[in-house]
Amino acid sequence: MDETSERPDRHDPATVGTGTWAVHGGNEIDAGSGAIRSPLVLANSYALPEDPASMNWSATDRPLYTRNGNPNQAALERKLAAMDGGEAAAVFATGVAALHGMFFTLLRGGDHVVVSDVTYEAVWRLFAELLPRRYGIEATFVDAGDPDAVRAAIRPTTRLVHVETIANPTTKVADVRALSAIAHQAGALLTVDATFTPPPLYRPLADGADLVVHSLTKYVNGHGDAMGGVVTGDAATIGRIRHDAIVDVGGVLSPFNAWLIMRGSVTLPLRLRQHLASADAVARFLDADPRIAFVAHPSLASHPQHELARRQFGGRGYGAVLAFALDGDPATQNRFVANLRVITSAVSLGHDESLIVHVGPDARGGSEHYPPEFLRYGHLRLSIGLEDVEDLLADLRTALDRTEFTRRA
Ligand SMILES: Cc1ncc(COP(=O)(O)O)c(C=O)c1O
Repeated sequence: MDETSERPDRHDPATVGTGTWAVHGGNEIDAGSGAIRSPLVLANSYALPEDPASMNWSATDRPLYTRNGNPNQAALERKLAAMDGGEAAAVFATGVAALHGMFFTLLRGGDHVVVSDVTYEAVWRLFAELLPRRYGIEATFVDAGDPDAVRAAIRPTTRLVHVETIANPTTKVADVRALSAIAHQAGALLTVDATFTPPPLYRPLADGADLVVHSLTKYVNGHGDAMGGVVTGDAATIGRIRHDAIVDVGGVLSPFNAWLIMRGSVTLPLRLRQHLASADAVARFLDADPRIAFVAHPSLASHPQHELARRQFGGRGYGAVLAFALDGDPATQNRFVANLRVITSAVSLGHDESLIVHVGPDARGGSEHYPPEFLRYGHLRLSIGLEDVEDLLADLRTALDRTEFTRRA
């Protein structure tokens, strides 16, 4: 996708770079008005043919009902499929709806799943509690940074290996190529949550992942004003996911949110460059300060998967989320956050503004698998936004200087 041919065509993603496709992908001249921007279509229903009696009411390939498909969803799906290097995409109301929709479509009672021991909390809960207890789907949590551990966890009933490219919140990096070989050898699929590493930073499908999920709420929209999720991959599987998990379960992306995410995604490649460069600078700054107990970011040579991250992400960057803690008790972390004047204390990540959240040492949701320093201090998860990096560094420095440190008990 990044190699431009001699005749680039904005309608053909194979001939243009990702930056060009991010601007033009999925956007067509509107036949009705001549507008060069695809309009927002706010209608629940579409005109039926004269004889609808024998229609397939679950069809997703014709205008029928917005839960089955809508022009704004379809445009976003065309754009995101090509950005990920997939044949097709299915968009959902949230990232979690996309993850659940994928698992719901692919798994049956009695199936076994190998899941990274560090994942976004909702995925941990799905596999630790909800899917096993309600549907008899079994899961083994393993260190996804260790391909041998993943191989050892495979059973004859393993249908799926699920990992995050960079895990939320520990920043552990999964070796997608190695894990796809292990999954495929066992006749299982590799599903990858690439929310922390959207294109053009990384395309897991090119390294053998079968399906890729992004929370569009994060970098792809990028403006902190709309939620969404997407699964990308081969057309047949995406068709099943759309049919089973969107039409019949209903976590559909609203046309307005599809339109907002479409608009936000125009600047994704441009924004990512700033996010990534600033994150590396902030990681270096925190790592050099003796008042900081630990910093987890794959850009640092001390990160256990630094070399893998450099190779896998092609030197383009290491994600823009860091976890760190001050060398003090939980009250110290809270005082530090209260002293910040540029960075906002709020959940989420990948927004235009930098966001920080203090997660205490006794957090739930699989945290027993976190590295020892996370368990000792808790952690501050910092999502680096688009502010001037000098302002971010000055904010962190000033807040550190103003924080009264109290020792852990
Ligand atoms: C890695 C990852 N996947 C999925 C999600 C869920 O996305 P959403 O909040 O859009 O449901 C998140 C949210 O933080 C996330 O960090």
